[in-house]
Amino acid sequence: MPTVTNQGLEVLYSRQQIAERVAEMGAQITRDLNGERLVMIGVLKGAAPFLADLARAIHADATFDFVAVSSYGSGQRSSGAVKLIKDLDQPIEGKNVLVVEDILDTGLTLAYLRKLFLQQHPKTLRIAALLDKPSRRIENINADYVGFSIPNLFVIGYGMDYAERYRNLPDICLMPSAPGE
Ligand code: IMP
Ligand code: MG
Repeated sequence: MPTVTNQGLEVLYSRQQIAERVAEMGAQITRDLNGERLVMIGVLKGAAPFLADLARAIHADATFDFVAVSSYGSGQRSSGAVKLIKDLDQPIEGKNVLVVEDILDTGLTLAYLRKLFLQQHPKTLRIAALLDKPSRRIENINADYVGFSIPNLFVIGYGMDYAERYRNLPDICLMPSAPGE
């Protein structure tokens, strides 16, 4: 029997499973940094909970910045176009940059951001994605750090939304399909 939340949602990854995986990712990122500084760039809004937890699992001198992009409209389907809504506050030239994203799906968002950030000549540019849906990829892009690789499922919670709802669920849950879908 799958675990179900008090809202009747099926849990894909529990808060405990997420915490364990995020701790492992933080340890790996800490090792790879070799004592150097880090700029963590969160992709609003979905990556906010992941960035908050991952940052505290990274033992290094780290700062935060955030960008916002629009790619998804209000439902489950991507429009295909990516637009920058909020740019970086600080330049990243010569810095070790870690782009933190909730989910790598078609790759359109991260391919766009990678190109944009590389134009600023960071020292290193790495990507951490909590979830990866490799079967949906359109752009040729992979994350350096992946929490969980999942099949083509629509998920909500731990920052991820459906029409802006459910971001505050502590677990990663499956989006129930509407009756008749
Ligand atoms: P991409 O540009 O297709 O890789 O899309 C990445 C963005 O789409 C993510 O940052 C999410 O905001 C959104 N997204 C993709 N799959 C899901 C999902 O299963 N649930 C919620 N949001 C998703
Ligand atoms: Mg997102």
